[in-house]
Amino acid sequence: MTAFSLKNGTLHAENVALASIAERFGTPCYVYSRAALEASLDEFLAELQGIDALVCYAVKANSNLGILNLFARRGAGFDIVSGGELQRALAAGADPQKIVFSGVGKTADEMRLALNTGILCFNVESAPELDRLNEVAGSIGKKASISLRVNPNVDAKTHPYISTGLKENKFGVAYEDALALYRHAAALPNIAISGIDCHIGSQLLDPAPFAEALDKILLLVDQLAAEGIQLHHIDLGGGLGIRYSDETAPTVKSYLGPLLAKLAGRKLKIVLEPGRRLVGNAGLLLTKVEYLKPGEVKNFAIVDAAMNDLARPALYDAWHDILPVAPHTGAEQSWEIVGPVCESGDFLGHGRSLALQPGDLLAIMSAGAYGMAMSSNYNTRPRAAEVLVDGNQVHLVRRRETVEQLLAQDAMLP
Ligand code: LLP
Repeated sequence: MTAFSLKNGTLHAENVALASIAERFGTPCYVYSRAALEASLDEFLAELQGIDALVCYAVKANSNLGILNLFARRGAGFDIVSGGELQRALAAGADPQKIVFSGVGKTADEMRLALNTGILCFNVESAPELDRLNEVAGSIGKKASISLRVNPNVDAKTHPYISTGLKENKFGVAYEDALALYRHAAALPNIAISGIDCHIGSQLLDPAPFAEALDKILLLVDQLAAEGIQLHHIDLGGGLGIRYSDETAPTVKSYLGPLLAKLAGRKLKIVLEPGRRLVGNAGLLLTKVEYLKPGEVKNFAIVDAAMNDLARPALYDAWHDILPVAPHTGAEQSWEIVGPVCESGDFLGHGRSLALQPGDLLAIMSAGAYGMAMSSNYNTRPRAAEVLVDGNQVHLVRRRETVEQLLAQDAMLP
């Protein structure tokens, strides 16, 4: 998929020059490619053809309504983790029966909203959450469909902040406790057991841990069946990694193939919750060089995007490719690509070899996932605009915030 490529010496999103986007919408600006978004969803759908399966896009990766709507139109479901995400999914045209609700801290209000909406399933993460859900459902005359998110205790071999399937993580129900909690669930009047769920971490580049987790989950499925608790679906979570620099990301086929083989012959609907894989490489962050500040020890290129726009480098030391929009022929130097925020951790890339001039445009690549979604207003910086490119067309899918909007939320003492 060549969503972003050089044409006539300048970087384009599909058929649109990034320079023209900067001119029209300003910088910093997130730019997404419709073709790339659809191609990544298609990669999943192709493997799942003829199989009873549902791809529930993890809204947290990028919750822009334009993107959610694109996926909803293609039949995708959604994995949500808050009432806010539920409202976004519904506003984008989601089918409630294709929504699963994950997260360790669902409030009673969020539960009521989801029950009244009629979502497919709650992925329950603890015993007290199960009891609360039973109570809330009873109070409004509903029955809640549930999976238990079981923690299979496998090592996802990814960054510790985004590894979630180990015992020491706050997520899910301990493997050893799962059977007992299912028995408890079966006895609750307002709970309907529907499935089982696990999510072991994010940005996984080795498919083996997924298969290891599935083996453990299937053991539980069989133990439950022996006790007369029949499950209808199995949710394998998200986590499939993407290429940021020179990693080899597994194909969807090599990830799903072994899992589908293990599930063949079982009457279990398959639910998946991919986030990053669907949007990560379908987006970039367009920014402009404000100042060059060469120094004795380091050369700083100060750009107009910052850690509030893209937190991943500051937060995880994550590496994003940084490409010049219009490459020069001049001599390259090593640059620290940094933002204007008042923190030394405010960097987008260290030691990048680039030929730079003030005013140059740069593209921070692979920024479609956990980019805008994790942005903030730190330093009273209005959030960036977002555009979705479709062939020759550019659609503004989120207006740039204004300082007036930010100030309007505050109040002073009378
Ligand atoms: N399902 C659940 C229950 C999750 O917690 C997550 C992500 C996903 C699905 C989607 O995972 P994905 O397919 O995107 O790996 N902010 C971090 C990533 C945090 C992931 C949190 N959970 C980052 O920027 O790398």
